[in-house]
This record gives sequence, structure tokens and C-alpha cells, in this order.
Amino acid sequence: MKKNLFIAFEGIDGSGKSTQAKMLAKRLTDEGHKVHLTFEPTDGTIGTLLRNILKGAVKADERTIAGLFLADRLDHLLNEHNGLVKMLAEGYTVITDRYYFSSYAYHGVHMDLNWVIAANEMCATILRPHINLFIDVPTSVCMERIMSNRASTERYENLENLNNVKAKYNEAFVLKAHEENITHINGNRSEHEVADDIYNMVCKLMLMP
Ligand code: ADP
Ligand code: TYD
Repeated sequence: MKKNLFIAFEGIDGSGKSTQAKMLAKRLTDEGHKVHLTFEPTDGTIGTLLRNILKGAVKADERTIAGLFLADRLDHLLNEHNGLVKMLAEGYTVITDRYYFSSYAYHGVHMDLNWVIAANEMCATILRPHINLFIDVPTSVCMERIMSNRASTERYENLENLNNVKAKYNEAFVLKAHEENITHINGNRSEHEVADDIYNMVCKLMLMP
């Protein structure tokens, strides 16, 4: 039985990743697991700069943004305070809301996907998720959710871009199918239906040798 897992949630903006990551973390915590729930961009120095760029408060080129997300990810993995390598070694199940497939999908729209994958290879070598959970929701539904719940939208949150991002996710999943555990979940259902599916998948994974 695996003691603790590294679980990455993926999906386009508004697909319900944060909701599901929180629900899974609560359920596992209630069962007595040690759980570390985290996200990218992080709330560290580089992640904070990225959030300002996403809001439009700071200007940056797409290539710069791709480099900053990589730096933020390395810090997420390696920082001495609560880096994911340390948390996993201490026995926590780590649940992250976005990891390197987000970079493949969002930056692959603007630059060569193979470059983005190669640039992130070090992260995959340091920590590869036991499972990448892709919450699949039509882009139009995601846009409706975003528009009805927020006063403003961020850099990548428009229908045309989200369609492109979704296509890049699919391209990356095909390219990486041989070495990544990727599971698609129909996220266009009630929060509880989606959460039950995810929980059952994670339980199966925990029991695998
Ligand atoms: P993400 O982290 O992928 O951007 P969120 O979890 O923040 O998505 O959800 C985006 C919005 O959609 C939130 O307002 C949330 O309450 C809502 N939402 C999440 N899951 C569902 C669902 N299954 N059905 C309808 N609305 C949902
Ligand atoms: P997030 O806060 O997860 O947004 P949401 O909850 O709306 O999905 O992520 C913020 C944005 O950062 C989102 O538009 C996707 C983008 N992003 C990248 O462009 N590259 C990356 O490597 C990551 C992790 C996120």
C-alpha cells in the first residue's frame, strides 16, 4: 500500500479544480491522512509576481511568463520551508491545484510545446505525480462559471484562449501517455458526483502496490 500520494489537479480555468482539490483534501484529512493542499502559481515571491502579471498589473512577455512559472514550480518543489519534496518525505499526501501540465497547456499555446516540456523536465525528474486528474468541462461552461462568479477576468480567461489551452492539454496528454498517469474526469456534473469519482480513484491508487 502506498503510504502517501502526490496528486495533481489539472483543467482549464473554471473547471472546478480548486473546489475538488479542497473537497478531496477534507475527505482524506477527515479519514486521518496527513494532507498538504497546495497550488500553482504559489503564494511565494515568484508566484505573487505571476499573479500580478495575470491580473494585468505588471506587463510581461509570454516567454518570460513561461520561465517564471518554471522558477515558481522549482521553488514549490525545493524550498526548505514547505517544499513538496520535503512534505512528501514527511509522509504528507500532497494535493496540488495545477502542476507542469498547466505549463504545457497554457504556454504551449504561445510557444513550442516541446520546448515547454523540455524546460520542465527537471520538475518531472524531481517529482512525477502518482496521478494527474484532468477535470474535463466544456469551455463555454467554464466561461459561464467564471463570468458569473467574478468581477473581472484574468489574462488567459477568454473563450478563444481556453479552447486553445484545452487543445494543448490534449496534445500534451498524447505526447506524455507513455510515462504519465493521466485520468480524465467528467467535471460537468454536480460537485459531489465529481468528488465521489475522484475519491474512489484515489482510494484505488492508495491500495496499489
Ligand atoms: P478552478 O479552480 O478550476 O478555476 P473553481 O473550483 O474555482 O475552478 O470553480 C469555479 C467556479 O465554478 C466557482 O464559483 C465554483 O463554485 C463553481 N463550481 C465548481 N465546481 C462546480 C460544479 N461541479 N458545478 C457548478 N459549478 C461549480
Ligand atoms: P489558477 O489560480 O489555478 O486559476 P483558476 O483557479 O482560475 O484555474 O491559475 C491562474 C492562472 O495561471 C490560470 O489562468 C492558468 C495559469 N497558469 C499558467 O499559465 N501556467 C502554469 O504553469 C500554471 C501553473 C498556471
